[in-house]
Amino acid sequence: MHVTGPLSSRWTGYLGLLSALSAAFAPAVAVKEHDFKKCHQSGFCHRNRAFADHALGSTGWESPYHVDASSGSFHDGQYQAVILKTINDGAETVRLPLTISFHESGTARVTVDEEKRQKGEIELRHESKARKERYNGAEEWVVVGGTTLDKEAKVGYEDKTQVTVKYGPASKFEATIKLSPFSIDFKRDGHSQVRFNDQGLLNVEHWRPKIEQPEPEKAEGESAEESQESPVIQTEEQPQGEDQSTWWDETFGGNTDSKPRGPESIGLDISFVGFEHVFGIPSHASSLSLKQTRGGEGNYEEPYRMYNADVFEYILDSPMTLYGAIPLMQAHRKDSSAGVFWLNAAETWVDITKAKETKNPLSLGSSKARTNTHTHWFSESGLLDVFVFLGPTPQDLTAQYGELTGTTAMPQEFALGHHQCRWNYVSDDDVKDVDRKMDKARLPYDVIWLDIEYTDEKKYFTWDKHSFTDPVGMGEQLDEHGRNLVVIIDPHIKNVANYDVVAELKAQELGVQDKKGNLFEGWCWPGSSHWIDAFSPKAREWWASLFRYDRFVGTLPNTHIWNDMNEPSVFNGPETTMPKDNLHAGGWEHRDVHNLNGMTFHNATYHALVTRREGEADRRPFVLTRSFFAGSQRVGAMWTGDNQAAWDHLQVSIPMILSQGISGFPFSGADVGGFFGNPDKDLLTRWYQAGAFYPFFRAHAHIDARRREPYLIGEPYTTIIGAALRLRYSLLPSWYTAFRHAHLDGTPIIKPLFYTHPASESSLAIDDQFFLGTTGLLSKPVTSPGQTTVDIFIPDSEIYYDYFTYSIPPTAKGKHVTLDAPLESIPLLMRGGHVFARRDIPRRSSALMRWDPYTLVVAAPRKATDTAEGDLYVDDGDSFEYQQGQYIHRRFLFDGAAGSLTSTDYNGREATSEKEEGEWLSKMRSVNVDKIVVVGVPGSWKGKTSVKVESEGRTWEARVEVTPAEGRRAGFAVVRKVGVPVGGDWRVVF
Ligand SMILES: *[C@@H]1O[C@H](CO)[C@@H](O)[C@H](O)[C@H]1NC(C)=O
Repeated sequence: MHVTGPLSSRWTGYLGLLSALSAAFAPAVAVKEHDFKKCHQSGFCHRNRAFADHALGSTGWESPYHVDASSGSFHDGQYQAVILKTINDGAETVRLPLTISFHESGTARVTVDEEKRQKGEIELRHESKARKERYNGAEEWVVVGGTTLDKEAKVGYEDKTQVTVKYGPASKFEATIKLSPFSIDFKRDGHSQVRFNDQGLLNVEHWRPKIEQPEPEKAEGESAEESQESPVIQTEEQPQGEDQSTWWDETFGGNTDSKPRGPESIGLDISFVGFEHVFGIPSHASSLSLKQTRGGEGNYEEPYRMYNADVFEYILDSPMTLYGAIPLMQAHRKDSSAGVFWLNAAETWVDITKAKETKNPLSLGSSKARTNTHTHWFSESGLLDVFVFLGPTPQDLTAQYGELTGTTAMPQEFALGHHQCRWNYVSDDDVKDVDRKMDKARLPYDVIWLDIEYTDEKKYFTWDKHSFTDPVGMGEQLDEHGRNLVVIIDPHIKNVANYDVVAELKAQELGVQDKKGNLFEGWCWPGSSHWIDAFSPKAREWWASLFRYDRFVGTLPNTHIWNDMNEPSVFNGPETTMPKDNLHAGGWEHRDVHNLNGMTFHNATYHALVTRREGEADRRPFVLTRSFFAGSQRVGAMWTGDNQAAWDHLQVSIPMILSQGISGFPFSGADVGGFFGNPDKDLLTRWYQAGAFYPFFRAHAHIDARRREPYLIGEPYTTIIGAALRLRYSLLPSWYTAFRHAHLDGTPIIKPLFYTHPASESSLAIDDQFFLGTTGLLSKPVTSPGQTTVDIFIPDSEIYYDYFTYSIPPTAKGKHVTLDAPLESIPLLMRGGHVFARRDIPRRSSALMRWDPYTLVVAAPRKATDTAEGDLYVDDGDSFEYQQGQYIHRRFLFDGAAGSLTSTDYNGREATSEKEEGEWLSKMRSVNVDKIVVVGVPGSWKGKTSVKVESEGRTWEARVEVTPAEGRRAGFAVVRKVGVPVGGDWRVVF
């Protein structure tokens, strides 16, 4: 969910309307763009853009930031100095402490603070109780590792104008710090990759007291209402050349922000040298390769915005903010990658421009000028705190970022299955009925979801006593087939009498406070509400207590949680969220921590689930979140929010999910079918086929949308959707393996071509096809109506087989192939040189497949004597025992020259003794690989009838059936009854 529909922010105070509201939402109203700020309506955005215009538009502009040369020192991997900002024509300076840290992980970090605020030598206006420092707590929530200082880093060169530090692996990285004006040039192997303040846009809005000036007179006829709607932006030059109109307070949509600390923004230009494409900074409904934002044909007019908001029915192809933000940007070109992570949780905007270099000393006579991408970042408050990654590969970037902010939590296996959701299943009988009908129609699924209506009048942790009379019975029926229930729990707590949860929140002061330090009250689904402050340790502890089985009665171990509305969504707040001058634990303003808010709540719920019951082996929680920040990947899954049942929303879901994947949060999906509206049967079918390739695969629908469970849609659609679901379930072992890799080192689960083929220049911007994990499976979902063929880009000279028919579409390196794609077919290729695992017996849920045998598929390489490789990770799919080595991870190697397939431990571990084996691992001894399919076998295999199998000191023969190539169809071999244990060492010789 959700829609805020008629609740425009202008609507406040019409109490009488409230009760009618939840029934009155009109569907299919596009997002009210004007409810959200454009850059010119956000004071600091406007100011920073104006600063940039001034700097870039004036000849001889010099950045007023200079490092005080006498202040600089370097030791233990850290350079420290003070930057002086010169103001009032040199009459005054502002001291800005600078720290540049070089880490063993190869990352560098640049932090700029402001001395006066740091020392608390400022005055707050309006008797504010807020903290005086620039917010410095983001690190505490976000960073989990990778910041050990690199003692090997050393100053390589130093004079009065600059300091060069050599760092990173084999000292291949270098940072040249220019003192006057201040700038940094980050190089790899002597070549510039990333530059800070190259364009002179560094801007630290320092603290200053407000000098009261007479109110400007209102123009004739200007109503008070109008003047409140947007800040009056003065374009005329102010005495000091700065536009002060938005320094002290700011009004938007009838809400005034009191800004007790005055202007505090930070801005910096970051150039990616020689890079034409930059990626990341999700979430935006846009292309994977980011667009330019300063106008011109095909470009945006607005910067990309990151200010988590309840932007229901978002518009497409837009840099507008969405529900979550990850301020990680990466640049890729042929064989080189670099990135920056902007660690700031306040409202942030990023402008992007690209420019051909006029003179390129590196092109050595070649006339081809390089393109540089210039980015301009600015945040409303907080420290300037930026990490720099110098690659050189996309894998290095995701691994370093993963080390810094953590990797994907290993999910329960069921979470990778098919989820069925709608707003709302109206009763426990309804849930049980859907459950039975899915079985009857042979549609596998793992989880059914309950949206807000299951509660007693939107009081979380309660059940509607009339419609959910027996939640335990419902949970037990689901459990019969190993299925799960997810119920929604939001951060707004209904402000009503006789509700113990809100009574406790009030009594123990666990809620977010308003600017005066009183409990903040606003409007959300339940009407008047308070918000838990998950920044407070005490509040998190209390939150955990609410989920205990004896407290949230009616929940079972197979009940999991969905956190929605955690941006937070506040219907009557500015931009549908909290006032920025609200206060959180520790005295930080909401302004400082806004983008962290969703994550702290999501995390509080995750930890609550771990402690639901004392003294028992815990299961891995599943918590879905709508709002997120860098680090959210450590605790759960996200989805892309309230999309629409429209083809273009299906289309944009692919680049959006790919963007999540490269930004460290790959456990992501979009609402299958589209949340708002009614998809036609073709669209719904195509969406299931695409959704079967989302890491998080959930169908969802709005309360006003017609019921659309796949058994309702009719033939042939139900059968076609069923085939897509079974494809998903059969490939679950490979999906789970992909999650293991994401968990280990931050690798995306579905991978764009620039990630798998960084050497292919023409792959860089492709964002409608992707590879799944290490399988070599290349998917390109059909996303347009009436489409019967699909063109797939082939990024290399390997051989590609059709997944279903084994035919080899004619390919040449760097060319498209065309596949037939009528409605019943899913375009899917297998790249030669890979081995992947699946399970071929269709079942109702993933839990029922737990002890089924495996099939291995070998896609033979183009060159018959080459190898094919792959891996399979298995654990109990539910507990934390994998952390104690209770898992199986096998490496499969098909050796074309030797004609053999071997299985060895992925990590080279010794075989576990029975003593070390837990219950699960010991039971897995009897689970076999029973079938091996080799696609693309050489003609010489013709007539083979048996293969030799060696395992655990025994040798036997298994039958093989070889089907020679015919026409475009590759030859293939199928070995049945292989009988080798999935967890053991073995070898099959063909
Ligand atoms: C998550 O919650 C745990 C337990 O309350 C806490 O220790 C940790 O700091 C929290 N982390 C984040 C990112 O909110």
